Amino acid sequence: MSTDPNDPFWLPGLDGDLSGGGLAEPAAGDAAEVVGPGRLQKVLARAGIASRRVIEDMIVAGRITVNGTVATLGDKADPRSDVITVDGAVISTMPDAITYLLNKPAGTVTTADDPQGRPTVVDLVPGQPRVFPVGRLDVDTEGLLLLTNDGEMTHRLTHPSHGVEKEYLAHVEGSPKPNVLKRLRAGIELDDGMTAPAQAAAVGDNMIRLTIHEGRNRQVRRMCEAVGHPVIRLVRTRIGPIADRQLKPGEHRSLTTKELFALQSAVNLEAPAPRKRGDD
Ligand code: URA
Repeated sequence: MSTDPNDPFWLPGLDGDLSGGGLAEPAAGDAAEVVGPGRLQKVLARAGIASRRVIEDMIVAGRITVNGTVATLGDKADPRSDVITVDGAVISTMPDAITYLLNKPAGTVTTADDPQGRPTVVDLVPGQPRVFPVGRLDVDTEGLLLLTNDGEMTHRLTHPSHGVEKEYLAHVEGSPKPNVLKRLRAGIELDDGMTAPAQAAAVGDNMIRLTIHEGRNRQVRRMCEAVGHPVIRLVRTRIGPIADRQLKPGEHRSLTTKELFALQSAVNLEAPAPRKRGDD
């Protein structure tokens, strides 16, 4: 396998140990802990505006608006997508929002806490603020994984309605012929239903580059298996607009502002325009 950075299909570490197999542990329960919607006073207190008690007084005094509507006690807000003002000034409710890009090495589990004590992807990024994986890669799948404390971003990136592209490079058994690639493109009947149309290209004799929009369990492995080419090694090389050929296995970095904007645009994540009470 190529380790030449000028080769368009090269990813650091792709020539390493090719052992495979195994299932990722579900990241169940993680979503509840990320920064997400909640009572307005909690959202604002978490953003460091004031204590909950003081914020409640401000709400009662009519000093706070959510999306242009004067808030009342009991209102909820989403720090990621709602426009909140205090005394007319828009405030940042996500000062601690962070999104990392990790090049997941094989053998790490995509969860925040593995009951079996195996190394997790969360072990590979800073512990504070706490972040959680966006979606899942199998324990032996390698490559790009986002971790964030931004609940709305996680939700949108993992929700099928947004259909964010995920590109994989699969080293497979045998040499896939054009008709195999055609089948992968058209959709494959799996035990949980047909896969959506995908992009598939041969990259050398026994490598397939597959771009899918769904996130079903072990989807790429099952698709390749179904067409008679079991996966030997699987690397995710792109998530929507995010790719990085320099990041080595086990390394992470924060997304740049430009990448964050690109990602937000890929999931239609834009703050709604302020509106007046009674508009809806
Ligand atoms: N498809 C798979 O088969 N495994 C992954 O980890 C991701 C996509």
